[in-house]
Amino acid sequence: MTDTHSSSIHVEKARNSELLTQTNANTPCGEYMRSYWHPFMLESELKDLPIAIKLFGEELVVFRDRSNRIGLLHKHCAHRGASLEFGIPADQGIQCCYHGWKFDIDGTILETPAEPATSTIKERFRQGSYPVRELHGLLFTYMGPKGSMPELPILDTFCNPSDNQPVPFRVLMPCNWLQVVENACDPIHNAFLHVIVSNQFASSFKVLPALDFVDTPIGFLSMATRNVKGHVFVRASDIIMPNIGQFTGASNNADKESFRVGCGRTRWVVPLDDGNCHYIGYVHFNEKHKPYGTTTPEDYGVERAGFIGQTDERPYQERQREPGDYDAVVSQGLVANRVSETLGVTDRGIVKFRRMLTTAIMAHTEKSKPDFPCPVIYQGVMRTYAHEYALKIQDPEKFTSVDALQVLGKLAALAVVEGQFKDLPAQDIESETKAQILKLINETHP
Ligand code: FES
Ligand SMILES: [Fe+2]
Repeated sequence: MTDTHSSSIHVEKARNSELLTQTNANTPCGEYMRSYWHPFMLESELKDLPIAIKLFGEELVVFRDRSNRIGLLHKHCAHRGASLEFGIPADQGIQCCYHGWKFDIDGTILETPAEPATSTIKERFRQGSYPVRELHGLLFTYMGPKGSMPELPILDTFCNPSDNQPVPFRVLMPCNWLQVVENACDPIHNAFLHVIVSNQFASSFKVLPALDFVDTPIGFLSMATRNVKGHVFVRASDIIMPNIGQFTGASNNADKESFRVGCGRTRWVVPLDDGNCHYIGYVHFNEKHKPYGTTTPEDYGVERAGFIGQTDERPYQERQREPGDYDAVVSQGLVANRVSETLGVTDRGIVKFRRMLTTAIMAHTEKSKPDFPCPVIYQGVMRTYAHEYALKIQDPEKFTSVDALQVLGKLAALAVVEGQFKDLPAQDIESETKAQILKLINETHP
């Protein structure tokens, strides 16, 4: 390889990395991501005072007016730029502290009290604003073009089983959003980071798995298939474009049979700017999956993610002795250096995500509507695909090789994906899919 050739590869890698990691306004990735709703804080955080926040590099202020309506406005007042974090919430909207201009939650200027009565400022100008919706205790906003605002997505995992209680939480990650998403596309780290160098996941995760990355209508499944104690043990996480992940628990020992289509956690990775993001979402509590994990709803909230190693709260030396996701991912750097990385075959989930994201960004830039995600909606709810099971292998000679496990895991994942197209309630699909997977385990000849 000539020096010129290798330096042009470096330039190309650096450009690709910039394309995927830069999310401010008017960047291709930033504009693509603005075409989705994103959660930005817990509803319970917002009390009587406004709060200054950052989202996708934009400085904003969120507030609750005295009629209990929530507004999200550009931080700096349209008059001469005082921050609305010092504004006074009014019966309708918020009043700037400096000269009393009053803004409604949609940015309409309601009053300019020191200006003459004949002033037309109110008709000609407005404060920048974004819509806000509350769902299960999280506040969401949409920062894309007004004319193409999608519905706020309701995922099947929020309401299946029907007694499910989504409990909101958020954690600040002081690094670029992409490396947090890539962590979820990397199931092999569960064996090393979470078991071999610690005891964070059940010992079943220590067995090195067969990996696969199976397409779904909304992204792909990041899956690991293992033979543990005579069971096929599969953990398949949803990677949903562009920044949602859904994961089952970490405590399944695979020593007895279990089966679920669904997840224990739904999270978004939302850029505040290119060096900070929120890991924000819900943990799902319901009777059916109660044995999963040992945490309670009280373990989740602001800077509380219910699992060791998700923040920097532990003493530094303790984190060195038993590092967690936070330590591995944040220590990659503010923006992980993707020019000098050395990818192996176990990194194919990461490569797949980068390709999908690049395709989606380019499609959005060119046509302003990417071909995917293309969700299946059943009775107003988006179908998703995360699943986890441990099912007994009748013939112990089967599935002893990584190749055989990979074939089985993939066929079983396709059964989950195809099942979700059926015009049936989720619980019926779950039992049908389980029967189909049992058949695959017992009748497939590796
Ligand atoms: S700066 Fe806000 S009213 Fe003057
Ligand atoms: Fe992890």
